[in-house]
Amino acid sequence: MTSLRIAVGQIEPRIGDLQWNIEQIQRALNQAADNNVDVLVLPELSNSGYAFASTDEALDSSEIIPEGDISRMLLEWSSDNKMVVAGICEKTNDGLFNSAAVIANGKHITTYRKIHLFYKEFEWFIPGGAEPPVIEFEGHRFGVMICFDWAFPEIARILALKGAQVILHPANLVLPYCFDAMITRSIENRVFTATANRIGVERDLNFTGRSQITSPEGKRLLSLSKEDAGMGMLEIDPSIADDKMITERNDVLADRRPELYRRLVEK
Ligand code: ACM
Repeated sequence: MTSLRIAVGQIEPRIGDLQWNIEQIQRALNQAADNNVDVLVLPELSNSGYAFASTDEALDSSEIIPEGDISRMLLEWSSDNKMVVAGICEKTNDGLFNSAAVIANGKHITTYRKIHLFYKEFEWFIPGGAEPPVIEFEGHRFGVMICFDWAFPEIARILALKGAQVILHPANLVLPYCFDAMITRSIENRVFTATANRIGVERDLNFTGRSQITSPEGKRLLSLSKEDAGMGMLEIDPSIADDKMITERNDVLADRRPELYRRLVEK
């Protein structure tokens, strides 16, 4: 398959209302299935909401991946040759992680745990301690990062170096910068990006919607509304991202000078 149908689902999860969250996610899964979506991205913390007031509140909304309610819905949806990446408030024996479950063909492929925690997230989440993953699906390669990872260009660069053609990006954005930053992440790595953001207000936070998909040339191929739930989908050919030439003579990966970048890996 050279092209595939990719979608970003924009929903409004609610803290402490699992039934509501299940319904929102099921509606997005149904819409994606009705539209023959191959790869679906859902927002960060889709099962739980975001602006917790305490660790107990986060814990109450968390689930074990892939045994939890939402994970099982994703497993079932994906069984028909599909992949979904969804943000999950993940419960483990070590504590809570802000995670992205990667589920394809009815199987749990991997879980990425957010490396760069934002704002009060430090109060309830343990930061992830492993490099972000690249997953092969239907002959294409997909990288995963979560929300505030956008502010650290190292993450998208690592994903590109690992061969990602498309970066799947569950988000709960509150700052205005990410939409343009992901254009830059696309250009500097010559990759597609798909950011699935949420809408609504929780406590002191206003979420900004505008879920988007960008191309390796830095075009915003699709952008959803600021206020409304919905789904944006389009056909892409991920192999376009294998061409790293930004001019006839400049390859954005091969032209790097890592011997001069030592400061990047110093504390
Ligand atoms: C964020 O990382 N949820 C802003």
